[in-house]
Amino acid sequence: MASALVLQDSNPVLKTHPKLSLRRGMYSYLIETLNNGSTYTVTDGNNSNSVPIVWSFGLKSQTLGLRIRRPLLREPGELFRSIDALDTTIGDNSLHPQTLLEAFGRELSDFETKSCFGCHATNAVSNDRLTLDGMIPGIKCERCHTGAETHAQAISEGKTGPIPGKLGQLTPEETSNFCGQCHHTWERVVRDGLRGEINVRFQPYRMANSKCYDGGDRRLSCTTCHDPHRELVRGAAPYDAKCKACHGASAKASATAKSCRVATNGCANCHMPKLELPGGHMVFTDHQIRVARAGDPYPN
Ligand code: HEC
Ligand code: HEC
Ligand code: HEC
Ligand code: HEC
Ligand code: HEC
Ligand code: HEC
Repeated sequence: MASALVLQDSNPVLKTHPKLSLRRGMYSYLIETLNNGSTYTVTDGNNSNSVPIVWSFGLKSQTLGLRIRRPLLREPGELFRSIDALDTTIGDNSLHPQTLLEAFGRELSDFETKSCFGCHATNAVSNDRLTLDGMIPGIKCERCHTGAETHAQAISEGKTGPIPGKLGQLTPEETSNFCGQCHHTWERVVRDGLRGEINVRFQPYRMANSKCYDGGDRRLSCTTCHDPHRELVRGAAPYDAKCKACHGASAKASATAKSCRVATNGCANCHMPKLELPGGHMVFTDHQIRVARAGDPYPN
C-alpha cells in the first residue's frame, strides 16, 4: 500500500514501458517516458494536446494523474500490467469523446480529487481541503496510525504527545470498517447499491457475507490473514492454518466448524475463488468464503 500513489519519476512501470499507445475512435493516446520524465499526449491527427505526468495511482494498474489547471485530471487510458498495455478505465468504455479536449480526459471535481488522494496518499487532505504541499505519496504509518508521527516526534523531544489509537485492539468488525475506509465497508457497498461481480473487490463486504464470519471472533479478521505492514502473501498454502483454526480435521477444542470432505490443504484455492473484474483486466480474490461450484451464479 506504500506505493498506492507514486511520483512520476519513481514509477517503475513507466520506466520499463517507455512508449505506450492506444487508439480509440479518431483519437490516439501516447505515454512516452524519456530521461526527464513522462508525457501524455492525445492527437486527432491534426492537433495534439500534451502534458507532463505528475503522479501515478495504483500498482495493479495505473491511472496517471496529470497536473493541469486543477490539481488532477484522469485520462481515459489506463495501463494494465496484466496485459501490459493501455486500455480504457473501467466504466469509461461508454464514453465517446467529440472533441480533442474531451478525449484528453475528464476533469475531476474537487470532491473526487480529494477522495482519490484521501485513499491513496498520506497527509493529502486536512480540514476537508486538499493539502498537496505536505502530501506523502502512498499509505504511510501516519495515514493509519493517526498522530503516530507527531507522537514519535514529541517523545524524541521529551514531551508527551497525543497517544495513537491501538489498532491491535479493534474487534474484527471494527477492523473491517477500518480497512473499509478505503476498501469499502459493508454499509457503503449496500448503500451505494454496488451489486454484481464489481463488488468482489470490496473484501469487507464479501467477507461479512460469508457463513464463516462472526464480527466478534478474532480468528477471522482482515489482520488474521494480512499484515498491513508487509506485502500481500501470495498463494493459498500460507492461509490454510487460518481456516484450520476453525475447521479442524482434528478434535482441537478451538476448531469447532465442520471439516472438508474433499481436501486437507490449499483451502483458499477452492473456497476463495479468483474472479476477473468485468472489463477490468484485474483479478480479485472472493472473500465470501464458500463452496463455489462451477456454473453457480455469483452470490451477492
Ligand atoms: C488509507 C487507505 C487504505 C487503508 C486504511 C487500507 N488500505 Fe489496503 N490498500 C489501499 C490502496 C490504495 C491499495 C492499492 C495499492 C496499489 O494498487 O498500489 C491497497 C492494497 C491492499 C492490499 C493488496 C496489496 C497488494 O500487494 O496487492 C492488501 C492485502 C490490503 N490493501 C489490505 C489492507 C488491510 C488488511 C487494511 C486494514 C488493516 C487496509 N488494507 C487498509 C488503501 C488502504
Ligand atoms: C474509498 C477509497 C478510494 C478512493 C476514493 C479512490 N481509490 Fe483508487 N483504489 C482504492 C483501493 C483500496 C484500491 C486497491 C484495491 C482495488 O483495486 O479495489 C484502489 C485501486 C486503484 C487503482 C488500481 C486499480 C484500478 O482500479 O485501476 C487505480 C488506478 C486507482 N485506484 C485510482 C484512483 C483514482 C484516480 C481515484 C479518484 C478518482 C481513486 N482511485 C479513488 C481506494 C480508493
Ligand atoms: C494500512 C494501515 C496501516 C499502515 C500503513 C501502518 N499500520 Fe501499523 N497497524 C495497523 C493495524 C491494523 C494494526 C493492528 C495489527 C493487528 O491487530 O495485527 C497495526 C499495528 C501496529 C503496531 C502495534 C500497536 C498497535 O497499534 O496495535 C505498531 C507499533 C505499528 N502498527 C506501527 C506502524 C508503523 C511504524 C508503520 C509505518 C512503517 C505502520 N504501522 C503502518 C495498520 C497500519
Ligand atoms: C482467511 C484469510 C483472509 C482474510 C480473513 C482476509 N483475506 Fe484478504 N486475501 C486472502 C487471500 C488468500 C488473498 C489472495 C492471495 C493471493 O493473491 O494469492 C487475499 C487478497 C486480498 C487483497 C488483494 C486483492 C485481491 O482481492 O486478491 C486485498 C486488498 C485483501 N485481501 C484485503 C482484505 C481485507 C480488507 C480483509 C478484511 C475484510 C481481508 N482481506 C481478509 C485471505 C484473506
Ligand atoms: C472464525 C472461524 C472460521 C474461520 C477462520 C473460517 N471459517 Fe469457514 N465456517 C465457519 C463457520 C462457523 C461456518 C458455518 C458452519 C459450519 O459449516 O460448520 C463456516 C462455513 C464454511 C464453509 C461452508 C460454507 C457454505 O456456504 O456452506 C466453507 C466452504 C468454509 N467455511 C471454508 C473456510 C475456509 C476455506 C476458510 C479459510 C479461508 C474458513 N472457512 C475460515 C467458521 C470459520
Ligand atoms: C479441491 C478443492 C477443495 C479444497 C482444496 C478444499 N475444499 Fe472444502 N470443499 C470442496 C467442495 C467441492 C466442497 C463441497 C463438498 C460436498 O458438498 O460434498 C467442500 C466443502 C467444504 C466445507 C463444507 C462442509 C460441509 O459439510 O458442509 C467446508 C467447511 C470446507 N470445505 C472447508 C475446507 C477447508 C478448511 C479446506 C482446507 C483445509 C478445504 N475445504 C479445502 C472443495 C475443496
